Amino acid sequence: MNVDTAIDWIDRLLVLETGKHLNDLQIFMIRQMWLGRKYIEIAADYHCTEGHVKDIAAALWQLLSQRLGERVTKTNLKSILQRHATPMTSPPTKIANYQFIGREVAIAKLDQLIQQGQRTIAILGEGGVGKTTLAQQYLKTCDCDLILELSMAKESSQITPAEIVVEEWLWQDLQIEPGREFGVSLLRLKRQLITRKIGILIDNFEPALDREGRIISAQRGYVELLRVLTDRQLLGVTLITSRDRLCEIDLNLTHYRLSGLDLTTWQTYFNYRQIEATTTAILPLHQIYGGNAKAMEIIAGNICADFDSDLATYLQTDRDHQSV
Ligand SMILES: Nc1ncnc2c1ncn2[C@@H]1O[C@H](COP(=O)(O)OP(=O)(O)OP(=O)(O)O)[C@@H](O)[C@H]1O
Ligand SMILES: [Mg+2]
Repeated sequence: MNVDTAIDWIDRLLVLETGKHLNDLQIFMIRQMWLGRKYIEIAADYHCTEGHVKDIAAALWQLLSQRLGERVTKTNLKSILQRHATPMTSPPTKIANYQFIGREVAIAKLDQLIQQGQRTIAILGEGGVGKTTLAQQYLKTCDCDLILELSMAKESSQITPAEIVVEEWLWQDLQIEPGREFGVSLLRLKRQLITRKIGILIDNFEPALDREGRIISAQRGYVELLRVLTDRQLLGVTLITSRDRLCEIDLNLTHYRLSGLDLTTWQTYFNYRQIEATTTAILPLHQIYGGNAKAMEIIAGNICADFDSDLATYLQTDRDHQSV
């Protein structure tokens, strides 16, 4: 494949996804990267800042990563496209992938924190805002050898102790014999994590926290586990999702507070679900629910199921109920 075919392929993909063609800078950037040139060199030739080129590139890599199901970067762009996009194949046709939209800013932030050396990031936010979805989707694009997922019990009394979780990861997922002591098991786990790129998701951490955000006394094993997971030598990343803040000051972990989806994303989502929606019409709903992803999903589901996909009738009924 040559660079012209690659540009043509990406352009068609972009039109399918966003309705827009590649702009001059994007085309220039792809050509230069094909030749192995650096961001700073591309920026100098295009008379713009390196930061601007990086921002444009990041958005494009994000789109390509989502569509191709593997993490695309400047370094692997050529090889990935050569595998996916032969001149004879058209870009994947658009499927209604409305399960994960509108998280470009959050993804860029997670990328940035990881580049800065963070190995464990706690994604915080209210129920239904989209923490688990973001964490799962993000890890999928991280190019990991393996992803370990732990969903914490909703009841504090039902939480599986960290000792058992680590034992299970070692036996089942890593095919390594756990140690007799927790400390030894953790050492074995760490040895794996610094030699293999392993992504970890610890989902719904809040039942393990007390009011101050400290890990409850019955589950202090998680402090030891997190001490390993926050080690900067690790090749992979751990994402923890929690409705509440995790305040263990000895641990080197970072918090990222996730907000609701923006108004345009709500509109895109409604449109994907065949509901005609202008931003003006959905603005009040978006405001009431603060862009909450779960609310968006439930409202759209109601409109489809009970209002024949007609937003105006739904809104009118909603107003009627409120005035009763
Ligand atoms: N970016 C997104 N695009 C489309 N749908 C989304 C997005 N994020 C979340 N959703 C949908 O919203 C719902 C709630 O998302 P999710 O379970 O990730 O929230 P959460 O913050 O983890 O909630 P909880 O605190 O209850 O665990 C899910 O059904 C999911 O499919
Ligand atoms: Mg969740």
